[in-house]
Amino acid sequence: MSTPESTLTREKVLEENKRVHKLEDQFYLDRHPEQTNFYQARILRKTIDRVCFEMNPSGESILELGCGTGYLYLEFLKRGYEIIGVDLSTEMISVLEDRIPKNYRRRSRLVVSDVETFANIDDKKYSAIIVSALLHHLYDFESVIKMYCDRLIPGGVFLIFFEPLKQDIDTPIRYSMHKALADIDEAFYRRKMTRKRISILEKEYHHADYQRQFGGIDPDRLTGLFTKEGLKIIKVEKYCARRFGFSSFLATSILKTQNTFNLLAKK
Ligand SMILES: C[S@@+](CC[C@H](N)C(=O)[O-])C[C@H]1O[C@@H](n2cnc3c(N)ncnc32)[C@H](O)[C@@H]1O
Repeated sequence: MSTPESTLTREKVLEENKRVHKLEDQFYLDRHPEQTNFYQARILRKTIDRVCFEMNPSGESILELGCGTGYLYLEFLKRGYEIIGVDLSTEMISVLEDRIPKNYRRRSRLVVSDVETFANIDDKKYSAIIVSALLHHLYDFESVIKMYCDRLIPGGVFLIFFEPLKQDIDTPIRYSMHKALADIDEAFYRRKMTRKRISILEKEYHHADYQRQFGGIDPDRLTGLFTKEGLKIIKVEKYCARRFGFSSFLATSILKTQNTFNLLAKK
């Protein structure tokens, strides 16, 4: 019998995240084309440009929480930064380790740890703290963000990237078109995964995607928290992420629906 969400403990959420990300390992980005399609790739590139532009150029390093197999991590390494990656999953970290070119390795440090434990054992300050698709996996994302706000140097930036947006879709017609497009997108995705012989893990994520039971994450809670911690909000971006770039474009630009957000704040 499955555990009802309300009885899930912090330990169970951690355990489920370890379990599911062990199954993901080297196929993570193949299973999640919504993170690599042309629409998302353009957003990723522009976001990294903005982070690099806003960062205090004092030469401190970057910290990535929940770095996974290196979706953002490798991009910052390629741009010459020193970066520390923290992730709960030995398997995801090990895939990332293998992907790091030899000549970048002296600027890279990877740590297997949950982000709360790491905050208690690390007291360094950083030029940037980046988080991609992590917050919805956490039992208490607000206390984690709060813990890390004072780990930024003055002028340092905090990036929250690719998180599920808590939202209301107001008109029923728009909702049904949004849903129809999502179903078509998903059907093509399933065919593609079958053709590539990659298993789909969505049911496995039931407990690990802990914040989805609340409908995702409300960016207003984060903007409020950052402001209280003395950070200035630079940008909040909302759009619709889909498996295929063309579906993301249609949903965001034509249907004007949103299910994902990015947020950049500066100390
Ligand atoms: C959806 S994946 C995103 C990976 C990567 N950031 C990306 O955008 O592709 C979430 C990652 O967060 C890690 N994770 C989940 N809970 C965590 C925790 N409490 N502490 C550290 N890492 C965690 C998982 O192991 C996984 O690698």
